[in-house]
Amino acid sequence: MRRLFLFFIAICLVSLCFSDDAEARRRRRRHRPRRAKIINEKKLFERIGGAKAISEIVDEWIRLNLADQRVAQAFTPVTSKPEKLGKMRRNLNDQLCEIADGPCQYKGSDMKKTHIALAVSEDQYLVVSDNLVRVLQARQVSEREKNELLARIGELRPEIVADTP
Ligand code: HEM
Repeated sequence: MRRLFLFFIAICLVSLCFSDDAEARRRRRRHRPRRAKIINEKKLFERIGGAKAISEIVDEWIRLNLADQRVAQAFTPVTSKPEKLGKMRRNLNDQLCEIADGPCQYKGSDMKKTHIALAVSEDQYLVVSDNLVRVLQARQVSEREKNELLARIGELRPEIVADTP
């Protein structure tokens, strides 16, 4: 009888141990930071289509902005001087490429100084950003890549619009 009682106690202790373990495992799983599911994922630069795609996006973006009556006036510093337009194009290309983790480095002027000097308004910023959305949509850049690129460009907003808090 005593043996049976001891056996019963041992069973209880073992099952208690295991249930604690299971609970602890569950708790650890709940608090473990989610690891990125996709390993070895390509960089945004590659997913967008590489150097050629970035260059075409920049050309089309500039073309839309210069043709857009809502902001064209703001671009007269470059439209009046072809060499300045070429420089802006190169620097914008390097910037987009770098932002997308491509093999480029932005070597242009201080973004804030350039844009604050132009007194870029919130409305102008929205128009120019929207023109980029149009370019990406027209090229059928997938939703995920489009949003990633726009979010990264969005981080530059304080350097472009003067009254950003
Ligand atoms: C959406 C965000 C924008 C980005 C990422 C951006 C990026 C750039 C870059 C990289 C340059 C080249 C700077 C250099 O050559 O050193 C540039 C120049 C310029 N940007 Fe922006 N820009 C943005 C918005 C705007 C807006 C809203 C306007 C005006 C409506 C504007 C007007 C200009 C002008 C006129 C230049 C040429 C300045 C000069 O060379 O004298 N930009 N921008």
